[in-house]
Amino acid sequence: MSGQPILEIDGIEKHFGGLAALGGVYANVESGKLTAIIGPNGAGKTTLFNVITGLLPPSAGRVRFLGEDITDRPVHEISRRGLARTLQIKSVFNGMTVRENLWIAAQSRDGVFKPFQRASQSKRANRVADDLCEELGLGPLADQQAANLSYGDIALLEIGLALATEPKLLLLDEPICGMGPAETEQTVAKIRELSQRIDIVIIEHDIEVVFDVSDEIIVMNLGKVLARGTPDEIKSDADVRTAYLGDDDDA
Ligand SMILES: Nc1ncnc2c1ncn2[C@@H]1O[C@H](COP(=O)(O)OP(=O)(O)O)[C@@H](O)[C@H]1O
Ligand SMILES: [Mg+2]
Repeated sequence: MSGQPILEIDGIEKHFGGLAALGGVYANVESGKLTAIIGPNGAGKTTLFNVITGLLPPSAGRVRFLGEDITDRPVHEISRRGLARTLQIKSVFNGMTVRENLWIAAQSRDGVFKPFQRASQSKRANRVADDLCEELGLGPLADQQAANLSYGDIALLEIGLALATEPKLLLLDEPICGMGPAETEQTVAKIRELSQRIDIVIIEHDIEVVFDVSDEIIVMNLGKVLARGTPDEIKSDADVRTAYLGDDDDA
């Protein structure tokens, strides 16, 4: 269903005391496209993800997912409807194996403990964990403790934890932050591959990666959408060049 908005962000504001972290964000995310959100540190990108996923209530505005209003719905309900995200801060359980991490994440999709469904839930979680190990190329590492993984493989596992809830839309917050070139390449290739079967919105600092991987780019600055368009359109946008590209604050 390419071309349909899977996510509609309609005038979202978020104030922290006197600070307007989001000052009225309007953006649609279309299904079938890999969308990137770029913008300088403090632009409000992570806050926008926090509002979309129900972690933070917005001060104003609505969010619709698959045509339904999800504003102010609880995190677990939004997750159950098929919206998943990774965090900018890593969240794997270091003391567990790769498969155990994925299994727990798959179980969590089912929410509250249901004694009579326990066995079938557990079986489903096993299958999801095994499939994800395979898909992410983590099969050989399935029984390794997460603590022993390389940085790149941890990033893949993070993505796996979000995928374990079997989402329709996946939000990735700076998934390649802090990686070297080889790990970046591995992770970006996997994200591109995943985008064939699932809708993805990625917040990314590395502008070359963004131009390379995305179909659609949303540029944020000072809590608002400054521009949006294809990579070619964004490259040639004068406002974007002034506000962002000319002033590369690559941290
Ligand atoms: N929980 C919070 N409490 C207060 N201020 C916050 C909070 N979260 C984010 N901010 C502020 O909101 C602004 C946007 O932050 P953020 O969304 O993290 O930006 P980005 O992800 O684009 O770097 C920043 O000025 C940040 O300090
Ligand atoms: Mg951020």
